[in-house]
Amino acid sequence: MADARSRRREGDRRTPGAGRRRAPGGPAAAPGRVTGAPRRAPARAAAEGPRLDGRVIVVGVCGGIAAYKVAQVVSTLRRRGAEVHVLMTAAATRFVGPVTFKALSQHPVITDMWDPDSPWDEPHVALGERAHLLLIAPATADMIGRLAAGLAGDVVSATAVATRAPVLLAPSMSDVMYAAPVVQENLQRLRARGYRVVGPEYGRLATGKEGWGRMSEPATILDAIVSLLPARPLSDRGGAR
Ligand SMILES: Cc1cc2nc3c(=O)[nH]c(=O)nc-3n(C[C@H](O)[C@H](O)[C@H](O)COP(=O)(O)O)c2cc1C
Repeated sequence: MADARSRRREGDRRTPGAGRRRAPGGPAAAPGRVTGAPRRAPARAAAEGPRLDGRVIVVGVCGGIAAYKVAQVVSTLRRRGAEVHVLMTAAATRFVGPVTFKALSQHPVITDMWDPDSPWDEPHVALGERAHLLLIAPATADMIGRLAAGLAGDVVSATAVATRAPVLLAPSMSDVMYAAPVVQENLQRLRARGYRVVGPEYGRLATGKEGWGRMSEPATILDAIVSLLPARPLSDRGGAR
């Protein structure tokens, strides 16, 4: 599958580069800069990729610094046509407000399995069945531990247990947490059970230092989602993990 960057390069090659272009109201291209296709903002570029119409992606957001990056993932999934439902742990709501994900996903955000106003009687079961894929991002050390133990005491972990769809984890934590043997063992155990994992990557961490533990960028997570979506009739919801 061609990624967004290579498609962008393709697009640049195909577009005649005659003359400099001026963005509406913006300055002319700087001398010496390669012109041709107008430069696209990174968010716009990330939206390019396969259409996801008819696909149902459930996104479980956990309480980590990288929760804000998941807003970009949700926004792009919607722009590509996916139906997106967001679940949040209590800790996640301390980092990003549910209203952000509600606006981006255009669906109510589930933060509490017991909410009497929820559109779903049993959100973990209903959304677990409906999902073509469950993304858990940022996957905290705590969530990874709970999943490895088979616990289902919050709406995100309960949905992971209640779905047959592929579950994709995007871990994000400090380098010390990520290197902790218990976290590595838990991830190993989850991989052996069929959970998929994207990242983390080496880079600048919330603490300011560099190390392994940085959540993969939205474009990388989106590529992983697309590669894991089962190729099957869209009417056939759920899948084997
Ligand atoms: C400011 C702050 C940032 C945190 N960032 C992370 C993080 O990036 N990764 C992580 O695993 N835990 C992080 N934690 C700890 C989690 O929030 C904590 O373990 C919480 O219980 C996770 O709950 P959840 O997995 O249900 O969302 C952070 C805590 C605080 C106070």
